[in-house]
Amino acid sequence: MSQSITADKPDTNKSRADEGGERMALLIVDGEEYELPIRKGTMGPEVIDITKLYRRSRRFTYDPGYTSTASCESKITFIDGANGKLLYRGYPIDELATHGNYLETCYLLLFGELPNKAQYEEFANRITYHTMLHEQMNRFYTGFRRDAHPMAIMVGIVGALSAFYHDSTDIYDPEQRMVASYRMIAKMPTIAAMAYKYSIGQPFIYPRNDLDYAANFLHMCFAVPCEPYEVDPVLARAMDRIFVLHADHEQNASTSTVRLAGSSGANPFACIAAGIACLWGPSHGGANEAALNMLEEIGTVDRIPEYIARAKDKSDPFRLMGFGHRVYKNYDPRAKVMRQTAHEVLDRLGVKEEPLLQVAMELERIALEDEYFIEKRLYPNIDFYSGITLRALGFPPEMFTVLFALARTVGWIAQWREMIEDPNQKIGRPRQLYTGPVERDYVPMDER
Ligand code: CMC
Repeated sequence: MSQSITADKPDTNKSRADEGGERMALLIVDGEEYELPIRKGTMGPEVIDITKLYRRSRRFTYDPGYTSTASCESKITFIDGANGKLLYRGYPIDELATHGNYLETCYLLLFGELPNKAQYEEFANRITYHTMLHEQMNRFYTGFRRDAHPMAIMVGIVGALSAFYHDSTDIYDPEQRMVASYRMIAKMPTIAAMAYKYSIGQPFIYPRNDLDYAANFLHMCFAVPCEPYEVDPVLARAMDRIFVLHADHEQNASTSTVRLAGSSGANPFACIAAGIACLWGPSHGGANEAALNMLEEIGTVDRIPEYIARAKDKSDPFRLMGFGHRVYKNYDPRAKVMRQTAHEVLDRLGVKEEPLLQVAMELERIALEDEYFIEKRLYPNIDFYSGITLRALGFPPEMFTVLFALARTVGWIAQWREMIEDPNQKIGRPRQLYTGPVERDYVPMDER
């Protein structure tokens, strides 16, 4: 039995182009030939369109972990992993993080273009005036144990939004989809700050409409009712930049979760709650917390070789957290900006020597010179320096993934809307390679 697949070069094998000149890949299974259209995006690898393969060949493709699968068509975010590039709607992440701000980035992700001044002001105004939470939601928080992980609270509260905002759950109404988008982006800082305040036993601080997005968030987290609290503009700018860096990242696990949940017609709040649940895992958004814990465990520069050896040892499950990425096989462009931000925050706070930053920089240096990491193309990812930065800003490790979720909400919402507005959208329904028992007869209990 022979199976082969070939993607034809248009100039060398015209017979494999269909009548309209479309290029085709040829799949041969047991002597049967199947022509599969090759589709080209504006950038990135071409795809072989297998949507009709099952109907024609009665065979599925097999790709657990989706390493070779493009799950959708999208115009939002592009990653060139080999060259360490990340573009939101065509704009490089470092330019947006350096020259733009988070709300501008949100507008860009949602609507496809950077806003002009009037558009920006209108958008910022809309977000600002949706920041308050329904007062009754406070009772949800008090139902949680004080020691609940704030991500557990986030999953619960965000899912519960659909019980409070009935006028923005009809996914077939474009106006309601828009209102849900504004609500999600606007309320996430409030929800996240309340989760934090609850965990430390302090009263909730209401949003302040005179502050910008990041400053308002810092205020809700760190102000207390009994004394004035001034937000440091340098730290607010750093917070804003961290939000920009996390705003979207193509079809990662949580975004794919949001799309899959949304494909069944579930309301946007439920879909974002699903995304938050997925983000929580240590291989995804939970890695920033895990990376800081690892740096703390290493503690001093002299212990680094021991941990490098453990990361390389196949019999040890330990991995260098904040290192490696499914898509980036080069330096994560977000990690570069994050490293710079870590230095800026520490400078501003007057921290002359941060032992964890020293451990991180030395760990990075040693790993990048080590054959194992070079050969597997493992570089620091965004989470490697984010924990140090967030801790310096005053957040405990349990809040790191919450901040990631806050910032990623716009990406989830933009991707969810793109999916809903796609006329070819269908419910996501993967198939499987079944390896369980073949059909057999029920055996009564006393005969087993
Ligand atoms: N430390 C040591 N070895 C590693 C690491 C690491 N951090 N990452 C990958 N490897 C090795 C892995 O053992 C495997 O080796 P081999 O081929 O000999 O079996 C090889 O590199 C490929 O790894 P993989 O697990 O097949 O790659 P993946 O694409 O499935 O995993 C990853 C990507 C991010 C889950 C993984 O690199 C990892 O676990 N990193 C640590 C966790 C982390 O920092 N996650 C944050 C990702 S960025 C934030 C986000 O987007 O959510």
